[in-house]
Amino acid sequence: MFSSLYFIAFSACAALVSAGTNVTGFYPQIKGNLTMITWEHDSQPPFNDEWVMMLSENITSIKDKSGVITPVLNKNQKVTLENLLGSVELTNIYYNVSKGHGEGVKLQFTEVDAMSSSLPILQKHSKANYPMVIAADILEGTSKPTLDSSMFFKLLENSKDLADKVILSVGWTNNAKLRAYPDDGIKEMGKILKDKKDFNFNFPVRACAVAKTNSTFKQLLTNITGSTVTVFSMPNDTVNVDALRSFVLDIGVNRTFLDVPQDLRDKLRLDQKASGSFRTVSALGVIAWAALLLRLF
Ligand SMILES: *[C@@H]1O[C@H](CO)[C@@H](O)[C@H](O)[C@H]1NC(C)=O
Ligand SMILES: *[C@@H]1O[C@H](CO)[C@@H](O)[C@H](O)[C@H]1NC(C)=O
Ligand SMILES: *[C@@H]1O[C@H](CO)[C@@H](O)[C@H](O)[C@H]1NC(C)=O
Ligand SMILES: *[C@@H]1O[C@H](CO)[C@@H](O)[C@H](O)[C@H]1NC(C)=O
Ligand SMILES: *[C@@H]1O[C@H](CO)[C@@H](O)[C@H](O)[C@H]1NC(C)=O
Ligand SMILES: *[C@@H]1O[C@H](CO)[C@@H](O)[C@H](O)[C@H]1NC(C)=O
Ligand SMILES: *[C@@H]1O[C@H](CO)[C@@H](O)[C@H](O)[C@H]1NC(C)=O
Ligand SMILES: *[C@@H]1O[C@H](CO)[C@@H](O)[C@H](O)[C@H]1NC(C)=O
Repeated sequence: MFSSLYFIAFSACAALVSAGTNVTGFYPQIKGNLTMITWEHDSQPPFNDEWVMMLSENITSIKDKSGVITPVLNKNQKVTLENLLGSVELTNIYYNVSKGHGEGVKLQFTEVDAMSSSLPILQKHSKANYPMVIAADILEGTSKPTLDSSMFFKLLENSKDLADKVILSVGWTNNAKLRAYPDDGIKEMGKILKDKKDFNFNFPVRACAVAKTNSTFKQLLTNITGSTVTVFSMPNDTVNVDALRSFVLDIGVNRTFLDVPQDLRDKLRLDQKASGSFRTVSALGVIAWAALLLRLF
């Protein structure tokens, strides 16, 4: 039963042009509004939650006695990347019939071994018709990256044919205390990606740092054609909701994925007008900062 479904999965997908990078085409119900995409983290197969549109998984690797490296879920190392993708493909066949849409995957990497052993598997599965994102924090934000930009792109050199099939989500290391993405780090990203035009890029931005992430970031989005943003947040982060709303609406809901806890999503009210443009956000930031200083002294 399983293997015959598996066979159908592969024959069905082989005939399709990859939608690995065309997210708006894969989810027609969002009508181009990327903030409507729903995310689930660290879940394990089988994938039965019909509300989920993107699965986000941390990938690590295990090494057997003979030295063979296998990529697995960090959450449950018994589940291999192959298992994960196979399950997604089965789910997509079922969903396509019953719901008219499927799900995609975002794979988060922090280790060289995990990423290098994953790439051939992704290549094998990349003909399948669902969004696939390779994510890593490749530049320094709050700490040295464990998988830095030069290693990240070196690994991808042997996987050039993934270029039009995956989205590369490249970011800066971060934590809950991060309050701004520094200009020089954003410019460095721009320099590194300038000659990598074959790939589609996405930039993750932590919501707690958005209020003071300024015009240089917008330059990056302009410079890297077709790039998108993912606003993400962790449960206890302190977020300036008004600044976040302005940020998302300024960049555009057709260019911004929103992967944040439900309570923050509820507060955001993207249907309301932005309280200001990027410029006003910076001005508000200055006022808030001044108010804070006044309180301190
Ligand atoms: C993505 O898919 C949609 C719907 O199928 C299509 O209209 C659009 O042209 C595609 N975009 C790209 C860049 O291929
Ligand atoms: C996955 O990575 C995120 C970000 O580093 C972390 O918050 C989360 O706890 C990780 N989950 C697992 C299962 O490793
Ligand atoms: C979903 O079904 C439609 C119509 O039957 C088909 O054209 C499309 O290729 C299918 N998509 C996937 C991912 O199987
Ligand atoms: C943007 O923020 C950085 C701090 O991260 C600051 O050094 C820079 O001057 C700011 N630029 C503008 C145009 O506000
Ligand atoms: C964007 O491109 C311009 C012109 O090449 C360059 O001066 C600027 O530093 C770039 N900015 C970023 C953030 O990539
Ligand atoms: C968030 O804060 C609460 C209360 O301080 C704590 O119990 C919880 O473990 C924290 N959650 C995370 C993910 O840090
Ligand atoms: C997003 O929408 C804006 C305005 O509605 C439009 O100018 C822009 O081309 C769109 N961008 C994408 C990536 O669809
Ligand atoms: C986009 O989706 C959000 C929900 O994520 C909604 O609040 C907003 O009104 C939508 N905007 C547009 C222009 O469709």
